[in-house]
Amino acid sequence: MQYKDYKNVTILEHPLIQHKISMLRDKNTGTNEFRKLVEEIAVLEGYEALRDLPLEDVEVETPLEKCMTPMIAGKKLAIVPILRAGLGMVEGVLTLVPTAKVGHIGLCRNEETHEPEEYYCKLPNPIDQRTIVVVDPMLATGGSAVSAVDFIKARGGKNIKFMCVIAAPEGIERLMKAHPDVQLYVGHLDRCLNDAAYICPGLGDAGDRIFGTK
Ligand code: PRP
Ligand code: URA
Repeated sequence: MQYKDYKNVTILEHPLIQHKISMLRDKNTGTNEFRKLVEEIAVLEGYEALRDLPLEDVEVETPLEKCMTPMIAGKKLAIVPILRAGLGMVEGVLTLVPTAKVGHIGLCRNEETHEPEEYYCKLPNPIDQRTIVVVDPMLATGGSAVSAVDFIKARGGKNIKFMCVIAAPEGIERLMKAHPDVQLYVGHLDRCLNDAAYICPGLGDAGDRIFGTK
């Protein structure tokens, strides 16, 4: 499903994704199960998000004869989790593309301003030829997503996809206004943000729930 007039926003409606997100929301879901669910959702979202990877025909010899057959073309993928919570989605995408390189962007929301503060950035080099999949379970105000894409573009990244599990309308608007070229994949569109900039109904603090911190 497309969100409003944004052609680059895809809201995923697959029943398996919806079912797993409902399990994530449950406050009684423990760390171990939560972590597994985030990884499984990343596999399902990644399958959709990587639909347009370019292919090229290569020659392969089957037991019967030689043939030309399609394989993923060009430089492989870069997966870029936004620390910490984005780490929970990395293995899921690596399941699909085990040869992908992995960069990291460390951002933490300031609890008063709700704006992101950077503490780390290391990306595969060169980054410009790669398809880049930024992963973070939560797109709330969109501040972290916009900063992450700013960093990637400043280092030459061009073909950028962003995968999240839950988004608030505010986050989608902010990301699409700042970076309309980014292809955004959303597991579920939630209602709104509360006064503390948490997504409602949401699932709480994704980083704390993945890593068991509080
Ligand atoms: C969470 C989440 C996103 C960010 C989303 O991270 O994982 O990165 O908040 O909020 P935003 O859209 O308003 O920027 P958090 O800052 O809590 O850090 P953590 O992953 O280390 O817990
Ligand atoms: N970050 C989270 O982990 N959860 C929210 O609801 C908003 C930002």
